[in-house]
Amino acid sequence: MDGRRGPGPTVLGYHWCVPGCGKSCSLATLREEEKLHCVITGAAGFIGSHLTHRCLAEGYSVIGIDSLTDYYDPALKRKNLAFLEQHTSWSFVEGDILNIDLPQHFASADVVFHLAAQPGVRGSWGSGFHRYVERNVLSTQAVLEAARNTAIRRLVFASSSSVYGDAKSFPTPEDEELCPVSPYGATKVIGEHLCRQYWHSYGVPTVMLRYFTVFGPRQRPDMAFHRLISAALRGEEIVIYGDGNQGRDFTFVLDAVEATLAAATTGAPGTPYNIGGGARITINDVLDDLSSALDTDLIVSRVAPQLGDARDTAADTGRARRDLGYSPKTTVQEGIRLQIAEIRRSLDHAW
Ligand code: NAD
Ligand code: UGA
Repeated sequence: MDGRRGPGPTVLGYHWCVPGCGKSCSLATLREEEKLHCVITGAAGFIGSHLTHRCLAEGYSVIGIDSLTDYYDPALKRKNLAFLEQHTSWSFVEGDILNIDLPQHFASADVVFHLAAQPGVRGSWGSGFHRYVERNVLSTQAVLEAARNTAIRRLVFASSSSVYGDAKSFPTPEDEELCPVSPYGATKVIGEHLCRQYWHSYGVPTVMLRYFTVFGPRQRPDMAFHRLISAALRGEEIVIYGDGNQGRDFTFVLDAVEATLAAATTGAPGTPYNIGGGARITINDVLDDLSSALDTDLIVSRVAPQLGDARDTAADTGRARRDLGYSPKTTVQEGIRLQIAEIRRSLDHAW
């Protein structure tokens, strides 16, 4: 990013050139062999869109693949991709992984970041489970099949802290028993097993990242920070599941993105990595942070704990620090302010 400033739009501090820039940006001097060709599935989503902007800022080329599922408003996903059409190193394939010609898109790829999925732990029970199977299991198998017999250097898979369920040790190391408490978590365990099998059987160099509850601008509307901040800004009631003492190792999205980028080059194939924010805090702590950031009292109601929610998560990030140089930079207090500013802007524009 440093010094790579053209007149392109600024997205959370990312700057990239647009056609006709005319300035001598350092991007122009990036040697062809340094320029990774990336495919990002789920590019229009929360984490995928940040990763896309980051890769482009790095001078890489990106093919984004996304079917813009209606799990939440597809208009938000289109907004996540706004401005990218101006970028000469970006192309977008709107389509479902299960229906498109993946081998064609992987043909010249150095790295595949596979983030497309059906997320959300609490909604993964019942009749909707077939979507989790299609989008998390069948789609992952399709991506891995398409990666066979290619020159891909790394295939980075977005796994989840939810593979642990109610872990026995904190901070939780990667070799903890995987015992998810949600059907979603079960599909991520299968995804990881498939990644390992394709590495051992076919040499597909898969790296698995277990993201721990990611937050920040563009966060999915079903997630806690988004729901809490939106309700607080509207003066509406905030609903807390259970006593609020459940803990999470919340991870700021740009920290997760840095880990993801590093995994593409230095991640050890066949290996899972915990990607956490560095501190476990409770939802009640988040309410306090939110109240002080907004300088207001919050209206809070408490309902029953939800099935599928792990009680606590906390990441042992030693392996990620060692192999990926991972070092999360943004605290919950800093990140929540950035997310408040973003949601406040979108509410202002909605009037
Ligand atoms: P998101 O829903 O915002 O993004 C996922 C994107 O994938 C969506 O834009 C969706 O349209 C697309 N998609 C889904 N199925 C597809 C298919 N079959 N073909 C093409 N596109 C498809 O979710 P997110 O929060 O950005 O999560 C990204 C990844 O990280 C997911 O794999 C998720 O399970 C994982 N993860 C997220 C978190 C978190 O806290 N957000 C934590 C752990 C793991
Ligand atoms: C998140 C993502 O939704 C999953 O896709 C991801 O795989 C998972 O992180 C992970 O880390 O693996 P979750 O931890 O449930 O799952 O994240 P949030 O939706 O932000 O919820 C955090 C906590 O807040 C949970 O304990 C939840 O019960 C609570 N919560 C959430 C509330 O009390 N009220 C709400 O309105 C929303």
